[in-house]
Amino acid sequence: MKQLFKTVWLWLDDRIGISVLLAPMKHIAPQDAKWWYVFGTATLIAFVVQVASGVALAFSFIPSSSQAYETLVFITNTAPFGRFLRGLHYYGASAMVLMIGAHMAQTFLFGSYKFPREMTWTTGVCLLGFTLAMGFTGQLLRWDSTAAWSVVVAAEQAGRVPLVGDWLARFILGGNTIGGATLSRFFAIHVFVLPGIMFGFIGLHLWLVLRHGISEPPTAGKPVNPETYRKEYDELLKKSGRPFWPDLAWRDVIVCTALILTISLLAHFIGPPPLDNPPDPSVLAADPRPDWYLLWYFALLALIPVRIEGYVMILMPVLLGMLLLIIPVLNHKGERAASRRPWAIAVVCLSVIMIGSLWIEGQQSPWSPNFQALPLSDKVVGATSGPVFQGAQLFHDKACGGNNMPAFGSSLKPQELDALVAFLESRKRPLRPQDQSPTARN
Ligand code: HEM
Repeated sequence: MKQLFKTVWLWLDDRIGISVLLAPMKHIAPQDAKWWYVFGTATLIAFVVQVASGVALAFSFIPSSSQAYETLVFITNTAPFGRFLRGLHYYGASAMVLMIGAHMAQTFLFGSYKFPREMTWTTGVCLLGFTLAMGFTGQLLRWDSTAAWSVVVAAEQAGRVPLVGDWLARFILGGNTIGGATLSRFFAIHVFVLPGIMFGFIGLHLWLVLRHGISEPPTAGKPVNPETYRKEYDELLKKSGRPFWPDLAWRDVIVCTALILTISLLAHFIGPPPLDNPPDPSVLAADPRPDWYLLWYFALLALIPVRIEGYVMILMPVLLGMLLLIIPVLNHKGERAASRRPWAIAVVCLSVIMIGSLWIEGQQSPWSPNFQALPLSDKVVGATSGPVFQGAQLFHDKACGGNNMPAFGSSLKPQELDALVAFLESRKRPLRPQDQSPTARN
């Protein structure tokens, strides 16, 4: 039997070249690279969980505005393992965001982005952007009222961006208003475009890790000098390097197994987030909060003055992204040890404190749009029935007195629009007799 397995393995290996494919696993790495270095592999494993659970979910999910919500109810309540799979995909996403954050903080604090690993960092920053975009597009696929409202709010905000706002809002919605095209668009982006790009970037990122080798843990007083670094690194590997597999990989195996176990236990015992009501843009009983990893950013938008929201919404991520991308350009040599770069510790601590406090604020802050418009009194309305009264009611129900209300242009019925116009016109001049209620006329 053993001989049979050996023959089959040798035949397969000869024809396919499995051991050649696995050879990079045996690359020599610094033996001091210990527990701090596990977060990259953990991010990779979380990505694999996402791909596997996402493909399984796509077997039953129908990306049509009339059926998406129903298929998710079916997956959650009826399909075998459906609830578990949705849970895996949800906690897998959370794990990926947490691990990518830890990986980024570690490589930043260890100065691993310095010569010659600048492009490893740069491709990583792109991967961070794609990961967050996956979270945002995935949330809409839930196609419940919170998801739909989040997109309406995002499109409304994007519409306020100077110059490109209109185009951006139409691109997000796939037309003038949220609908079937919006869902198809987000499905295509979430399932084909972003994962495709991510496969390419992860491949490039890992290729760069192999090309430049895993960085040795930093030593205070031993700065990176691009002229001598490569020679010193090669000598270090010759002296004390170990093959990643099997000598060093055991820590990664332990952390990744614990990660998969935690995601599975959470998926089984807590399950996926409950679905909200089905989406209906004319119903305002929604609380459009994004999933936790984007909550801090929405809290920021809700807290800043309305005037600058449009600018901050698009400009802040662009500026932050650019800042992250140029870190290795500005700072590619010198000390790597965090003890000699106190500002690096301060940046990480302040980022954690800022995101953490915005996140806490995001749990309770009033939202933009603020749908809690105050009711209009009879005295203000001046009528108790008729078009002006109906218009006043709509004015309140659609939260016209609130902040940053979404565009209802395409979801209002013609009579509703007429009633709103009648009410608004009545603000300018005394009521005409035909607009007043019969009792007020008498
Ligand atoms: C899908 C996302 C990502 C995956 C799957 C991934 C995976 C990996 C893996 C497996 C390594 C090898 C060693 C290690 O774990 O340190 C690595 C190294 C590295 N990654 Fe990532 N990474 C991702 C995102 C990022 C991000 C967001 C950044 C920073 C902005 C980044 C920057 C780096 C750097 C600088 C290294 C070299 C570390 C060293 O040589 O010590 N990566 N990555």
